[in-house]
Amino acid sequence: MKLETQRLILREYVPEDWEAVHVYGSVPEFSQYEMWGPNTLEDTKSFIAETITQSQATPQYQFNFAVHLKSEDYLIGGCGIRRVTQESNIANLGWAINPKYQGKGFATEAAKASIDFGFNELNLALIYATCDTRNIASYKVMDKLGMKRVGHMIGDRKIDGVILDSYRYEILSSQ
Ligand SMILES: CC(C)(COP(=O)(O)OP(=O)(O)OC[C@H]1O[C@@H](n2cnc3c(N)ncnc32)[C@H](O)[C@@H]1OP(=O)(O)O)[C@@H](O)C(=O)NCCC(=O)NCCS
Repeated sequence: MKLETQRLILREYVPEDWEAVHVYGSVPEFSQYEMWGPNTLEDTKSFIAETITQSQATPQYQFNFAVHLKSEDYLIGGCGIRRVTQESNIANLGWAINPKYQGKGFATEAAKASIDFGFNELNLALIYATCDTRNIASYKVMDKLGMKRVGHMIGDRKIDGVILDSYRYEILSSQ
């Protein structure tokens, strides 16, 4: 499975991707709003192994794309669209971009391709994303994608023992 945009190729992970993923996955600030990280080398390799396992399900229902920058032939992040269950017509969307490449619209470009794939190829009815309410960059991406904020979930996440809130955004196939 492979998607292509003007600047990016979205493809399945391969084991050799650990090095480029670890460049950002191991940085503490990178995962400050996430319930994972900072990654040890083992964490990064397990993450990639898990995505490869998910890509082998028949039929495949969870798609975790490595985001590859064409101009540099380099993995700059990840974007995932994952059905809630194998039969579900609802999927969760998520993204991560190496800090060196942030602020250039890459998350939005990768997510837009994933949304189009979700509605056109997977026939999804609804795609949602959540983020820590402090994660402005992430909900800006959701805004730019035309997703609508539908929920402010109090105490939805716990990071380092602290209970925090999340936003939930959604987009419908008819939008
Ligand atoms: C969230 C993330 C993927 C965004 O990637 P990106 O490629 O920089 O995203 P884009 O460039 O498409 O859009 C980001 C937008 O947020 C804006 N932004 C970023 N930080 C901001 C801040 N602190 N305040 C206001 N706006 C901010 C950018 O200016 C940009 O908006 P613009 O296009 O209107 O200028 C990236 O920050 C990241 O990987 N963060 C760490 C992992 C993470 O938190 N993932 C999301 C989990 S829910």
